[in-house]
Amino acid sequence: MIILGIETSCDETGIAIYNSKSNLMFNRLYSQIDLHKKYGGTVPELASRDHSNKIFNLILSVIKDAKLTLSNLSCIAYTKGPGLVGSLLVGTSLAKSISYSLGIPHVGINHLEAHININLYCNEDISYPFLTLLISGGHTYFIKKNSLYSNEIIGETIDDSVGETFDKVARILNLDYPNGMSIEKFANKIKNITITNKIHFPNIKNDCLNFSFSGIKSHMFRIIKKMELTETKQIELAYQFQKNIIEILVKKCIFAVNKTNIKTLVLAGGVASNKLLRLELLKHMKLLNIKVYFPSYKYCTDNGAMIAFDGFLKYRNNIFDKDFSINVYPKLKLN
Ligand code: KG4
Ligand code: ZN
Repeated sequence: MIILGIETSCDETGIAIYNSKSNLMFNRLYSQIDLHKKYGGTVPELASRDHSNKIFNLILSVIKDAKLTLSNLSCIAYTKGPGLVGSLLVGTSLAKSISYSLGIPHVGINHLEAHININLYCNEDISYPFLTLLISGGHTYFIKKNSLYSNEIIGETIDDSVGETFDKVARILNLDYPNGMSIEKFANKIKNITITNKIHFPNIKNDCLNFSFSGIKSHMFRIIKKMELTETKQIELAYQFQKNIIEILVKKCIFAVNKTNIKTLVLAGGVASNKLLRLELLKHMKLLNIKVYFPSYKYCTDNGAMIAFDGFLKYRNNIFDKDFSINVYPKLKLN
């Protein structure tokens, strides 16, 4: 089976081909960072136009990387939601057009499910049941997974997502876009700096499965507003903020594995690429005898490989669509 994956939910055009026989993934990503940088966040209209400009040549280049032609494809998988309407429409329209012209099936993929399932490609020894912590720009969930298509949400954020909190704090700290990554980059410069402004973060309830991050964001905002930001201050604040968020995530994971008695924890989404989070979780989960899995770094943030692989999982189970009307689902939920 040779599956073409098309991801256009936000501001990255991700295209991949998964060949199930060789288990090889050919993956290309075009990031619109430079386009949106000056606005400090994604501008939906610019995003969809840029997807339209770049998508077809990206598909041709991945097909070339895989030493194939369009006629070798078995199925086209594309992101149907959640995401930005205009961006989703570009991927969906092209996926259905190629599918129609080649006479092969297409399948719409839930972006959130794909973030989780790419773990099955990256870590072949994962077994069910497992607990997922999905931490992306738009979502923060604890999900109990008993099988491939069962998603029992057992905890979620009641306000901002983790990624969004990283993004907003990075913006008020005047750090470069993309945001979560810049917090990590600045926090890593702490080595030769003595902390002079110790932050007393609001207390968070650790003995429940839901999250709340807006209090921390507002606290950071109040502190930063009163300060003249030098690079040293940016480093101090980024370091303490990141440390606090990671402590919360680790404590919540400890509570979640104890409460559910599930012995496997699987991380998913853009924030799972944070190195300190990975190290801290590995350290604490080892003490509890819990196995922890992460996707490869390149498959944490948005990418086409996760769509191609989820398309493969569906197509293998004879799940695909026959409808050629162009529908997208900007607020699509898990299950
Ligand atoms: O999964 P993703 O690429 O997009 C969504 O589906 O939302 O996640 C993007 C989020 C952004 O909020 C970004 O700031 C965050 O992941 N992120 C990080 C890191 N890299 C990306 N947050 C913390 N540390 C990182 N290294
Ligand atoms: Zn995503």
